Amino acid sequence: MIISYIWFGITVIFTILCVIYTDTYHDCGECCKCLITTRGYKSAICDGSYIPKLPVSVEEIELRNSNLKDIGRFSLINLTLHRVYVLVLSGNSIRYIHQEAFVNLTWLSVLTVNNETSLSVDVLKKALTKLSSKFARTLRFTNNNWEYLPNDMFDSFINTKIKNVLLIGNQFSYINGSAFGVLTSCQNLVIEYNKLTKIHFWKMQRLKRLGLEGNRLSKVPNFCKFHDSLFPKLEILSLSENNIGNIDKTSFICLPKLEVLKMRGISIVELQNNIFSSLKKLEQVNLEKINTLKRIEDFAFNNTSIKKIFMPNCKFRFDLEERFNHSTIFKFCPNLNYLNLGLNHLPNNASILHCMFKPLDNLESLLLHSTGLIDLPRNVFTNSRKLRKLNLHDNSLHYFDRSREIFGNISSLKSLDLSSNLISTMNKSSLPSILLNSLEKINLGSNPFSCTCDQKWFLEWIRQTKVKIVGYPQRYKCRYPNELEGQYLKSYNPTDDICNPWNPLYTMAIVLSLFGVSILVIIICIWICQNNMKNTVYLLRVVYNHRQGHVALDERLNYEYHAFVVYCDADREWVHNVFLRKMERDEKIKLCIHQRDFDVGETITGNIDKYLEKSWKVVVVMSNNFAKSEWCQWEVDVVQERRRRQGKDAFLLIMLKTIDSKHMTSPLRTLLESTPHIRYQTGIGEDLFWTAAVKSLQKPLGHPPVAVL
Ligand SMILES: *[C@@H]1O[C@H](CO)[C@@H](O)[C@H](O)[C@H]1NC(C)=O
Ligand SMILES: *[C@@H]1O[C@H](CO)[C@@H](O)[C@H](O)[C@H]1NC(C)=O
Ligand SMILES: *[C@@H]1O[C@H](CO)[C@@H](O)[C@H](O)[C@H]1NC(C)=O
Ligand SMILES: *[C@@H]1O[C@H](CO)[C@@H](O)[C@H](O)[C@H]1NC(C)=O
Repeated sequence: MIISYIWFGITVIFTILCVIYTDTYHDCGECCKCLITTRGYKSAICDGSYIPKLPVSVEEIELRNSNLKDIGRFSLINLTLHRVYVLVLSGNSIRYIHQEAFVNLTWLSVLTVNNETSLSVDVLKKALTKLSSKFARTLRFTNNNWEYLPNDMFDSFINTKIKNVLLIGNQFSYINGSAFGVLTSCQNLVIEYNKLTKIHFWKMQRLKRLGLEGNRLSKVPNFCKFHDSLFPKLEILSLSENNIGNIDKTSFICLPKLEVLKMRGISIVELQNNIFSSLKKLEQVNLEKINTLKRIEDFAFNNTSIKKIFMPNCKFRFDLEERFNHSTIFKFCPNLNYLNLGLNHLPNNASILHCMFKPLDNLESLLLHSTGLIDLPRNVFTNSRKLRKLNLHDNSLHYFDRSREIFGNISSLKSLDLSSNLISTMNKSSLPSILLNSLEKINLGSNPFSCTCDQKWFLEWIRQTKVKIVGYPQRYKCRYPNELEGQYLKSYNPTDDICNPWNPLYTMAIVLSLFGVSILVIIICIWICQNNMKNTVYLLRVVYNHRQGHVALDERLNYEYHAFVVYCDADREWVHNVFLRKMERDEKIKLCIHQRDFDVGETITGNIDKYLEKSWKVVVVMSNNFAKSEWCQWEVDVVQERRRRQGKDAFLLIMLKTIDSKHMTSPLRTLLESTPHIRYQTGIGEDLFWTAAVKSLQKPLGHPPVAVL
């Protein structure tokens, strides 16, 4: 909040200052316009035939396109009271300047004579001899068509501190550097865009910058005199746009402090070995637009101080092996942090590219725009752990889905330009998290985006990312499918419904699992209901046989009891409370129970024989206890006799509790094998059990035997 107030305040103040100081020129004296500059003094531009009286604070005066053809002795008299720091004479067609015209300009710091093509350099020279300013710093004599520079041109400045001499845009073809010999303080000498074919330097102790751009030099000038440097402080040298056709390793000797060397557009065919080796302080080399370049020798860039190489637009064939040595080219300049190889032809061979860039551990910016790259090989930048900026604009990269392999683990990349390639889809693997964590800016404009569901991740990412997406949305358009061509990627909104259609495999999986579950349920049911099923089969058999047979009620009436119940003492509880109650009370079936019905005093065997005879059928209630009890086993033996006589229909075998195999005895087994039984069941199936039991008891005897379950 506070910050925004401060910001607002600064903006307001700045705006007010701008309103005050960017005031347009306004009239001040005839044919003049004045301006209050930000530094608080006024400048004036005059275009009349004389210089009128001006506000006394005017310190810069420009006489431009005026009719003042001759500057007489007193032409500048009206400036006498001014502290004129800057005088510009530009485009006035001045033919003559009186020798004493500048006498009063004692404060002059900057003198510019521009585009005065009618003025002879000798006339100006004469006028300069009377200029006695101690403050003179800059002499700018530009575009005057001068063809020669007098050797004594600057002699009158012998004790001044001239720092800058600019002689741009004249017609000099030769310059004798002795003219500058007197300018011992000169730091900046620019003789650009002349017709220099030859230049002969003189020692300039303080010179820092020398501009020779745009001349006709056919070789690098000599900077030595008896192995001594003529420019021991020179830091920046521009030889751009000359006809220099050859550079060798002796070309740049004697420039011990040179940091920046510009050779844009020169005509060399070859970069020879060690041409920069003598430049111990060299940091930047500009080799832009040398389209004559055909070969780079193995150790051309042998210089450990070089930090930046600009080499765009040379159309150099890095894809032809005989033109350069990919394993040594950058091996001897390991401190390179900026490399611009744009608009050259790079090889599309993974190992060559890898080899080229491998030594560049310190690279921070790499510009490979318009280099014909089709694919970026794996691990090509993995050594460049400091890489911050990568420009791959205008190549033919199709896929960008393996960037993890391309960049390895470098976490320094901040700016990535992939615009104007052939990338159609960006997805998660195109921009792995390690890259996204460092990235600040990405340009993917002018790629042929495919507006399909594959793009969904990218669109979602764009919506929430903090990375600046350069040119979005204007330069991001769909190319595929045809019906969306030209539409903005931004307006393509794939929904989940469209992008995640129901997969038939899902259906199949669901059907299969349902099937599996059903099978399982059925198995469990069978397991649980097996008793009920057995009981059902039992019942069906009883009922079926019953229907077929004749109802022999008479048969039963011959007996006192309907059935004799054999059970062991341990099962008494169930027999008395459950079985008896159900049969006698609900079904009116009279049962013979030994504990209730046997005669007292009679032996047990006698009782059994007697009551067995009185009973129509026999019920055997079986359980583990039953199997264990010897008494019950004996009873089984007794009733077996009945089984043999009357057949299995005389029996109702009830399995009260399943008998473990270890308790199974052979008489029991014989009985169970020959006679079907039902299993007692509570809960589901209880009714079934009772129905089967009752039906079984009601079934007439003497029918043919049925198969054992
Ligand atoms: C000085 O200025 C006055 C008035 O502005 C003008 O009339 C006069 O001609 C000027 N003198 C010269 C020598 O240009
Ligand atoms: C590289 O330059 C150094 C001098 O800076 C020189 O000693 C060395 O021999 C050069 N290397 C090659 C391979 O020419
Ligand atoms: C990247 O880091 C992982 C572990 O963080 C490592 O296993 C892998 O080898 C590294 N890859 C490269 C190319 O350095
Ligand atoms: C990313 O897209 C490429 C095609 O450009 C594809 O081959 C790859 O499988 C995709 N990766 C993911 C994770 O979707």
